[in-house]
Amino acid sequence: MDAITLQDLRYLDELHGDLAGVFAKMDAEAAAENIPIVSSSIGHALRVLVRATAARRIVEVGTATGYSALWMATALPAEGLIVTIDPDRSRTDRARAYWREAGVADRIEVVSGKALEELPKLRGPFDLAFIDALKSEYAGYLEGVLPLVRPGGTVLVDNLLWDGRASGAVPADDADTLAIREFNRRFVKDPRLDATILSVGDGLGIGVKR
Ligand code: DHB
Ligand code: MG
Repeated sequence: MDAITLQDLRYLDELHGDLAGVFAKMDAEAAAENIPIVSSSIGHALRVLVRATAARRIVEVGTATGYSALWMATALPAEGLIVTIDPDRSRTDRARAYWREAGVADRIEVVSGKALEELPKLRGPFDLAFIDALKSEYAGYLEGVLPLVRPGGTVLVDNLLWDGRASGAVPADDADTLAIREFNRRFVKDPRLDATILSVGDGLGIGVKR
């Protein structure tokens, strides 16, 4: 064996068992409606990383229907806060209903707008940032969150494998793929971070601010 197989990845995923409650409902509804939410393996990783870093204040770029925020919120202490940015009100209204149902709505604030415009208006410091919105804007999001994250704080980024398109395992040369490749090259060498990319889910960037 010289490579991880899909069987290995499935084995690790299935150790957790089926999702329950609001998580299962959100997962099923997003799949049925083709809403791009993080995989449950990323969800588990987010939850553990929020706990491992003892994060209390989190900024999220890209709310969608609130699935990743729910994973992170369940790892926060009661006084913790997630500020999550997304311009799509129909999705964030729906997110709020899920968060209420899960009992974590009081820990999550939505900023309705475009992240590149809203990030400069936010007041830090944040302990952790999670980037998961428009792939062509990832580099801009990183510039937007870095001043808000405290030294020693963590930046997480979804979709850095981009379903095989980043490595070329799946041939593609569209703008989003080129943007992710360029982002990855810069991210792992960014002098402001100690950063790497984990092969969890669709590729999870993790950087700690120096
Ligand atoms: C897409 C975006 C995501 O953030 C994701 O996790 C999966 C897919 C997309 O735009 O296709
Ligand atoms: Mg994503």
